[in-house]
Amino acid sequence: MEVRRAVAADFAGVVDLQDRNLWSRVDPNDRGGGFLSNRFSQQQFEAIDDDVCVVVAVDDRTVVGFLCGSGMDAMRNNPLVHSMISADHGAMSPDSTCLGGPVCIDGRQRGKGLMGRLYDCLYRQLRGTRYKEVAVFIDETNIASMKAHEKIGFEVTNTFTHDGRKYLTLMKKFK
Ligand SMILES: CC(C)(COP(=O)(O)OP(=O)(O)OC[C@H]1O[C@@H](n2cnc3c(N)ncnc32)[C@H](O)[C@@H]1OP(=O)(O)O)[C@@H](O)C(=O)NCCC(=O)NCCS
Repeated sequence: MEVRRAVAADFAGVVDLQDRNLWSRVDPNDRGGGFLSNRFSQQQFEAIDDDVCVVVAVDDRTVVGFLCGSGMDAMRNNPLVHSMISADHGAMSPDSTCLGGPVCIDGRQRGKGLMGRLYDCLYRQLRGTRYKEVAVFIDETNIASMKAHEKIGFEVTNTFTHDGRKYLTLMKKFK
């Protein structure tokens, strides 16, 4: 298993993994294992990587995990991110806060700590940049993601509602 920054050839696999894990695509009985709330196109993932970075876990040339890092200004036009930023009470700053996510691990690779390895890789990419903390939002019903993020040191800093659903904002300082 290789965990590294994405290269051009990885993005089709990132989109494929994302699409299999969207809320609408995950069987309601399986949503306890997590799901993704926002859909991004391949072009949008490439733009996120240009802005900050996308890191991937690759097993035998297949993308089995990914994590995005992006700047607040670049993501402001995304309606869900806009709701998170609008609800913030000053904990986040475009100067130092990197937005983390989406993050996704293929179902067969879950429960092995791979998400933590993706975050460690993101923190390495952010070394020497202006970013000092990561902020993520999680649907309140996504227990797998809440537990996994709390396990690696994220703490809830806020809550907000978007499109009738409740989300939590979590943050972690990494330097
Ligand atoms: C959320 C997700 C990224 C976690 O990745 P992962 O590599 O399986 O996470 P880890 O192996 O690091 O798990 C860490 C902890 O999370 C918790 N956890 C993970 N899955 C869980 C589940 N289904 N139910 C309850 N807790 C869970 C456990 O406490 C686990 O620690 P443990 O193994 O010591 O018990 C993965 O489940 C996933 O991709 N889900 C679909 C997409 C998604 O929900 N993305 C996040 C959107 S905000």
